[in-house]
Amino acid sequence: MPLDIDIDGASKTFITATDTHVHALEPVHLKIAPGEFLSLVGPSGCGKTTLLRMIAGLLDITSGTIRVGAQTVTQPDRRVSVVFQKPTLLPWRTILENCLLPNLIMHTRTPADARADAERLLGLTGLLAFRDRYPAELSGGMQQRAAIVRALVSQPEILLMDEPFSALDEFTRENLNEELSKIQARTKTTIVFVTHNIGEAVFLSHRVGVMAPRPGRLGALIDITGFPAERDAAIRKSPAYFAKIAETRAAFEALL
Ligand SMILES: Nc1ncnc2c1ncn2[C@@H]1O[C@H](COP(=O)(O)OP(=O)(O)OP(=O)(O)O)[C@@H](O)[C@H]1O
Ligand SMILES: [Mg+2]
Repeated sequence: MPLDIDIDGASKTFITATDTHVHALEPVHLKIAPGEFLSLVGPSGCGKTTLLRMIAGLLDITSGTIRVGAQTVTQPDRRVSVVFQKPTLLPWRTILENCLLPNLIMHTRTPADARADAERLLGLTGLLAFRDRYPAELSGGMQQRAAIVRALVSQPEILLMDEPFSALDEFTRENLNEELSKIQARTKTTIVFVTHNIGEAVFLSHRVGVMAPRPGRLGALIDITGFPAERDAAIRKSPAYFAKIAETRAAFEALL
């Protein structure tokens, strides 16, 4: 069952070792519907990762609350999977073993199902030939693709993705964008996706949240309507796509 996320005035102030207060994020009010694909765009340091980590239960919230489904977030939740900015694979396990690990712990699927899906996704991301290699034998971009496969194999109800494709070449990124859209449309997984790339956000999302720095805040929300649920390559050539990119860019510039 897809889950909703209710961010009710969640803010973050870091207190550093020298007792300085860093206001990373002003209170955010945002309701994300079950099955929604929401992207967050904004410049470096505007609090995107901070917000994602608070939703994931990996970072204390300074004020306000975040709810995932019926539960208030206080700790990591097994229904929620995270793809971090940098890949976090276990160095002593092969690529395929890394991808199967969450299912080994949570048993959400039969081992045969998980393995078949992992191999299909590794094929799709160009990694099948590397499934028995160790992470250190792969490039950074390849490791990141493996981390994405691992997150998808566990079939989470909520997927939080922090710039998952930023280390990839444009061609691979576009292919994975299309695949992610297809998976999201079919599984109705609720996804919060952080990116610097406005085109990628428009291509993938139902809504785009535009964030601004100093202080970090959510400044605008853009509805991305009029596209089919499963986005395909043709959208990137459509006037509606360019119009939404221009609208998002204008919202972004208005916040500077
Ligand atoms: N552990 C921490 N201690 C102190 N300040 C922090 C900490 N983590 C983040 N910050 C500060 O909080 C602000 C937001 O950081 P965050 O990592 O959320 O930004 P971001 O939008 O994800 O940036 P990027 O696009 O570069 O990944 C920044 O000013 C950062 O310096
Ligand atoms: Mg970040």
